[in-house]
Amino acid sequence: MSVFKAVEVFKDIWWVGAVDWAIRDFHGYATHRGTTYNAFLITGGKLTLIDTVKAPFKEEMLSRIASVADPKDIDIIVSNHAEMDHSALLPDMVELCRPAAVYASKMGARALAEHFHGDFATVVKSGDRVDLGGHTLSFFETRMLHWPDSMVTYLAGEQVLFSQDAFGMHLAGYERFADQVPEHLLKQESLKYFANILNPYAPQVKGLLDKLPSLGVAPKLILPDHGPAWRDGDDRIVQWYRDFATPTPSRKVVIAFDTMWGSTDKMARAAAEGVSAAGGEPRVMPLKACHRSDVATELMGAGGFMVGSPTLNNHLYPTVADCLTYVKGLRFTGLTAAAFGSYGWGGEAVKQVGDALTDMGCTVVEPVSVRFAPDQDVLSQCAALGRAVVERIPG
Ligand code: FEO
Repeated sequence: MSVFKAVEVFKDIWWVGAVDWAIRDFHGYATHRGTTYNAFLITGGKLTLIDTVKAPFKEEMLSRIASVADPKDIDIIVSNHAEMDHSALLPDMVELCRPAAVYASKMGARALAEHFHGDFATVVKSGDRVDLGGHTLSFFETRMLHWPDSMVTYLAGEQVLFSQDAFGMHLAGYERFADQVPEHLLKQESLKYFANILNPYAPQVKGLLDKLPSLGVAPKLILPDHGPAWRDGDDRIVQWYRDFATPTPSRKVVIAFDTMWGSTDKMARAAAEGVSAAGGEPRVMPLKACHRSDVATELMGAGGFMVGSPTLNNHLYPTVADCLTYVKGLRFTGLTAAAFGSYGWGGEAVKQVGDALTDMGCTVVEPVSVRFAPDQDVLSQCAALGRAVVERIPG
């Protein structure tokens, strides 16, 4: 008899997921606190599995299911999202259960067919319902939250929302409910998750939150695919998402940089002094010590972004290129930005950083660059650059 048991999170709804204590890199996002892959089993009618887990956790999921019902008796599978941390085991489950149907959105069915080279999903669209005999599933497509295929599943009678990646966070633990976790931890990890997963689609997040009541979706229990569930009408995460999706640029200035021989480091420190002197809040993030996904998290609600790079072989420094590439994809808006850096012979990096910041849609202030090492005059220019960034933040 396995030690892995299902956890009943609501009458007839069981958590049958897995805890990944070890993961520290989730497609480029540093998951310092691990994660969970949440799959759910619905009993009391047609046995239904909502999503699966990442492939290495197959036995854990099957054992949890087996503590409630024979996995072979699963009649319906819902795939809310085709990304591999939730769908990797679908072919295995189809083989094992021969379910009456695997439901997915149109884009989801296509993604699954192309990924697994097999056409096994039945397409559902927003508003479609499936009677399980005791419970009724409703489906709502949530395109671009965070993939084109994404959808959520709702039990209207019970007011339970299976929200897939939305309202989730990467947080390993035995606490199945948010009210068992300190709020500061919930807020930090949900902010980091939003910054690194959902921020490119912040307008769609706001649109969906505004639209949910008109769709008749008023959940009292939210069951995301990662992290703890939100029960008894606990809607803190919904309120936080509203705030995350509509940030007001603050006087926080993120200063991300790397250094070869210490000159760009000195320039960053001087810039931080200028930011602080102007009433801003510098966040100094040396890229040897700070992960790109933590830079992204700090950019949530920031008004300023200063990026420093030495020139290496006529190009910007690799860690800086990495950070800029990553952050660009997350589409932060409304940033006032500046480039700075030192160089030995070429000096191309500062212009390249400035171009990247312009390309990101930032309002870019004139840069500061110096050959070899900054003297007091150059450090004063860096401090003035920090002040200029703060003063040009709107509002
Ligand atoms: Fe949790 Fe988009 O996968």
